[in-house]
Amino acid sequence: MSARRRILSGIQPSGECHLGNYFGAMRQHVALQREGEGIYFIADYHSMTSLRDAALRRKQVLEVALDYLACGLDPERALLFRQSDLPEVCELAWLLTTVTPMGLLQRAHSYKDKVAQGLQPDHGLFAYPVLMAADILQFNADLVPVGQDQKQHLEMARDIATKFNQAYRCEVFRLPEPVILEDAGVVPGTDGRKMSKSYGNVIRMFWPEKQLRKAIMGIVTDSTPVAEPKDTGQPLFQLWSLFATEREREELFARARAGGLGYGEVKKDLLRRLLAFFGPMRERREELAKRPDDVEDVLQRGVARARERVAPILAAARNAAGLGA
Ligand code: TRP
Repeated sequence: MSARRRILSGIQPSGECHLGNYFGAMRQHVALQREGEGIYFIADYHSMTSLRDAALRRKQVLEVALDYLACGLDPERALLFRQSDLPEVCELAWLLTTVTPMGLLQRAHSYKDKVAQGLQPDHGLFAYPVLMAADILQFNADLVPVGQDQKQHLEMARDIATKFNQAYRCEVFRLPEPVILEDAGVVPGTDGRKMSKSYGNVIRMFWPEKQLRKAIMGIVTDSTPVAEPKDTGQPLFQLWSLFATEREREELFARARAGGLGYGEVKKDLLRRLLAFFGPMRERREELAKRPDDVEDVLQRGVARARERVAPILAAARNAAGLGA
């Protein structure tokens, strides 16, 4: 067995990434590729539970791939692939769904939330956690870095693995450990709520400068006059802090509390810092975007390596269940 720990995560293809994605997940995914074998895939099968536009799905998958490669995912080190290029996962999802109790799925928060919001659920949405369990268990992944909102799905993957092992008196599946990405969710959007595409409050790091300026100038602030002390708990200050050192933050916050600091000045400085921070990544993204065949090549090399790792585990599961000859 390989000594390198397998670190796996799925990425929703919801289009170009924003600051919430970057600081909440991408940055950690990129850093973790040094801690073991990083296995990252773009979850286009999962996106079918919410998106019914085929052309848009294809486009968004490629945008996410570009963003990850631009932000430092190293395809020599880590695997990056498109989930649907490995349809074996759907077979494993069936093996797993036959041992998954209905009650387990009925307790899923994300499912219950969507139903509570009035969404007419289909079976795909209900079975979403089983496909996610298959994503993880097909690799016998050791560590799964996810945001707090995915923690329950990971516990379900562990339960489903145990159910299968018990049902067929085998030890095919290892129980994956969650790595909860602590600062996921702390990035506020321009309106002060959590940054999320569904709220329309995102700042995308690779927007043209003009569009970035417009978004940043639109960040909500209170109406305290320039001369007065400012509340540093506001989203503008939180966003600015993402690009500052501890000392710079203390200095700016002290100025804000003293009065005399205008929001416009902070916004201009935020734009300057954001452009500097993402500058090298932006250049890399522009280069890569001119070579879509190379990006596809990365995904194809990624899935070929992924398939080598999945094949023995899927074979063991089929064998344990008495499938095939
Ligand atoms: N459900 C995850 C999300 O919404 C994406 C995902 C799909 C995933 N399969 C996974 C994450 C497997 C970790 C492991 O973010």
